[in-house]
Amino acid sequence: MKQTILTGDRPTGRLHLGHYVGSLQNRIKMQDEYRQFIMIADGQALTDNAENPEKIRESVFDVVLDYLAVGIDPNKSVILIQSQIPELSELAMYFMNLVSLARVEQNPTVKTEIKQKKFGRGVPAGFVMYPISQAADILGFKATVVPVGEDQLPMIEQTNEIVDRFNAVYGKVFDRVKAVVPENARLPGIDGAAKMGKSLGNAIYLSDPLKVISEKVMTMYTDPTHLKVSDPGHVKGNMVFTYLDVFDPNKDEVEELKKQYKKGGLGDVVVKKRLIGVLENLIKPIRERREELAKDQNNIIKILEKGTLVAQEVVQETLEEVRRAMRLDYFG
Ligand code: TRP
Repeated sequence: MKQTILTGDRPTGRLHLGHYVGSLQNRIKMQDEYRQFIMIADGQALTDNAENPEKIRESVFDVVLDYLAVGIDPNKSVILIQSQIPELSELAMYFMNLVSLARVEQNPTVKTEIKQKKFGRGVPAGFVMYPISQAADILGFKATVVPVGEDQLPMIEQTNEIVDRFNAVYGKVFDRVKAVVPENARLPGIDGAAKMGKSLGNAIYLSDPLKVISEKVMTMYTDPTHLKVSDPGHVKGNMVFTYLDVFDPNKDEVEELKKQYKKGGLGDVVVKKRLIGVLENLIKPIRERREELAKDQNNIIKILEKGTLVAQEVVQETLEEVRRAMRLDYFG
């Protein structure tokens, strides 16, 4: 039996190179070896976007187009929409009784997000609870492996606490889950910020046209002390070299360029032009496949509907077990 993986994204916009490096590449690899469920977590996206349902709906399509365009194969991976499986909300409701308010308020990722979004005490209750709902997402599928970014580790910790508590109170239903953080997982933003993010405005998207890629690379953070071409420059912390390290297939030439840059005599524009070429090589086929796929909305809906139905059957089985364990199986 293949092990079950669950991963997911909040649909709040198109996917970018950070997603590509941090999760998409990994998912393309994993879909052959594992039983992989990929969740478009629209319910979670609504926890801080309640007044923007149109944006979330549109993003569901953007995200699935990005998935398919990079090579996630709906015949190998199950792509599903969270909100269309109400059993997940039911499970989240039961889990909420097993976690204290003090505990949810301690989640470091949620704390950081509340600060970033300047919610203060006005934070939606649903937002504070989303780690519990995410635990339900994971356990509803009885996933044992969850590939996540570093910032999601507190969610896995919360999930495992729920596993222990549920099993202790109602009898053994769930197994503990394992987080897997892909190596080389975090791509910095074009501005040099630690993380590329849509809300940070420092992202290059998998659907960006060449012109936009060029403009973004031209504004990229390099080395502020490298004023003249003849000046010796730094490659560490220089985003153009950081990106070449990640994306340029010709490592030897990149090493050669680094040497030249450090010595002096190599201008930013030359290196940036190279990076534009490298990124366009990667993004062009993705962008073109995406445009093709976008022409047939019906096909996209069918893929989502089929995936969601397959997924729902799995979650329904879990919920039957849960209701039995919780003495909620009144009608047989
Ligand atoms: N919270 C995750 C993120 O922001 C997205 C997500 C929702 C998720 N449900 C999930 C990730 C279940 C893994 C498993 O990236």
